[in-house]
Amino acid sequence: MPKLNENYQSLKESYLFSEIASRVNAYTTANPDKKVIRLGIGDVTLPLPNKVISALHEGVDAMASSETFKGYGPERGYDFLRNTISDYYKENGVCVDPDEIFISDGAKSDTGNITELFAVDNTILVPDPVYPVYVDTNMMFGKSITYMAGTVENDFLPMPDKNVHADIIYLCSPNNPTGAVYNKVQLKEWVDYALENDAVILFDSAYEAFISDPELPRSIFAIEGSKKCAVEFCSLSKTAGFTGTRCGYTVVPKDLAFTASNGKEMSLNAMWNRRQSTKFNGTSYIVQKGAAAVFTKEGMEECRKNLAYYQENAKIIADCLAKKGIRFFGGIHSPYIWFECPEVEGSRDSWKFFDYLLNNAQVVGTPGAGFGENGKNFFRLTSFGNKENTIEAMERFDKLF
Ligand code: MLT
Repeated sequence: MPKLNENYQSLKESYLFSEIASRVNAYTTANPDKKVIRLGIGDVTLPLPNKVISALHEGVDAMASSETFKGYGPERGYDFLRNTISDYYKENGVCVDPDEIFISDGAKSDTGNITELFAVDNTILVPDPVYPVYVDTNMMFGKSITYMAGTVENDFLPMPDKNVHADIIYLCSPNNPTGAVYNKVQLKEWVDYALENDAVILFDSAYEAFISDPELPRSIFAIEGSKKCAVEFCSLSKTAGFTGTRCGYTVVPKDLAFTASNGKEMSLNAMWNRRQSTKFNGTSYIVQKGAAAVFTKEGMEECRKNLAYYQENAKIIADCLAKKGIRFFGGIHSPYIWFECPEVEGSRDSWKFFDYLLNNAQVVGTPGAGFGENGKNFFRLTSFGNKENTIEAMERFDKLF
């Protein structure tokens, strides 16, 4: 009989968004005549930019002839895409070498898989509320987590506690789920703390494209010293509508190295390369062709138009909450709006609110409890729906409260 990884017993029975999907499926099966509006999982609704579609077609055509056919690709991703991403960083004032960039099938896989590079007995700091992938993937390895509270009082932006030592720190900015964004001074404080503690920051910047204020950092590498203490995960899912197409990238600086117990310096860039080349055969050539088109002038213009559409949805949601006097966060440099649950039957419990909203307005959101203890009385709506549905959802919301 195999001995199982019993750490799985410590996990919640299902992943947050699977749990939501199953509750919604049960509801739609029982109520086939009701129109359900889904503003739960952050899944985009607009089609891919035309420039990306053309590039995907070119990629498919290349596979049809022996002169241009591609088999296994380079392990870190094709040069044409890594060079393009390096240039994109440069345009935003950040220097990232193409050799520091690893192409992947998205930030979810990489933020989950990176845990393999670290031993079990680290002090891991994770904000609460938090994207559940960081927590679940550490629990799968039996790693214990120290939570740092994100609350109304700190604008959901926990800052380092100099009296607490950490080895690994997870940060996400703009934040999923709260929409909060660290400014440069705050991120510098985190970088200084990481350097003092000889710690690593695992920085998720999947929502960077939503930042419209040039003063706000879109990358941890905009902060001095970060190349010695941070890894960054980014994704085209939200920037360019790749949730179904799948492409992301992870930046592991060449300067990032730590001393092992035998005194040997270990480079995280080399370790990640070893991990990826052993366990991952890369994102398909066709998808990488499409991804490179995102960073062209026309591709970016189309992406910006789509982002503006979602930002308008965020405003529709925010305006309704403001009108109702409901306290909310995010929705400006983020596709997520995070608000305090209105009281339902004497309770602000977010799962209760989820069921109430689904049953009475047929609107699906994400209960804050799914993101941690500090989210239990909060709720998240996404602006990634289509505009008509977003308006209708908020009209229904307006009538209900
Ligand atoms: C979310 O809704 O939190 C995101 O879509 C999840 C993800 O990107 O994996």
